[in-house]
Amino acid sequence: MDFVNIALAKGRLAENTLKMLTLQGITFPDYHPGSRKLIYENELQKIRIIFVKPSDVAIYVEKGAADLGVLGKDILMENEANLYEVMDLGFGQCKFVVAALRDYVDQPGKKIRVATKFPNVSRKYFHQLGRPIEVIKLNGSVELAPIIGLSDVIVDIVETGKTLQENGLIIISPICRVSARLVANKVSFKTKMSHISRIIEGLRQNAD
Ligand code: PRP
Repeated sequence: MDFVNIALAKGRLAENTLKMLTLQGITFPDYHPGSRKLIYENELQKIRIIFVKPSDVAIYVEKGAADLGVLGKDILMENEANLYEVMDLGFGQCKFVVAALRDYVDQPGKKIRVATKFPNVSRKYFHQLGRPIEVIKLNGSVELAPIIGLSDVIVDIVETGKTLQENGLIIISPICRVSARLVANKVSFKTKMSHISRIIEGLRQNAD
C-alpha cells in the first residue's frame, strides 16, 4: 500500500488535525509541537504528515505531492486551486470582515481604498456591491493601514476581535464565515480511494 501524504500548516490547524487523527488511532510517535522536523510517518498505517506554509498547502495538494491537506477556507477563497474541498472540519472558526476606524464615513460613489492580504476576496466582495475599489496588497499587520492613512478600510479575518479592538477599528460589514477545510488531490481521490476514504470517515466522525 502506498503512503497517503497529508499536508498541514504548522500551528493551530495542524494541532487540531493531529488531535482528530489521534482519536482515530493515527499517531506519529516522534512528533511534538516544538520540533523543527517537517515530515513524520506512521509506518504501520502508511500515513505521512508534512508541514508546509499555510499558503502552500493547496499547491502541494493540487500537484499531488500531498494527497490530502488541511487549510483555512480564507486561503481557499483567495487562491482558487484545482482540488476537491472534501469537508468542513469545524475548527479554525473565524470570519472575513470589512473593518475601519470608528469615525470612518463611507462616501458613496467614491473609490474605496482597501488594504488586505486577500485582494481576490476583496475585489469579489466589492464587485458584488457595485463599489469600485483600489486594492492595497499587504502581507500582514493590515490593521495599521487605516490608522496611518494608507487605506480607508481593511478586509481581513477576525477570530477573537482583539486585534481590531486594540487598534481602534470596528467591523463595518461581515463578509462570510471561514473554518478549516480538508482538501484532496483529484487523482489521489481515485487511485488511493479506499485508504483516503478511511481517513476521511474517521475525521468526519470526530469533526466539531
Ligand atoms: C490574523 C488576522 C488579524 C488577526 C485576527 O493575523 O489577519 O490580524 O489574526 O485575530 P484576532 O481577531 O484574534 O485578533 P495574523 O495573526 O495571521 O498576523 P499577520 O497580521 O501578521 O498576518
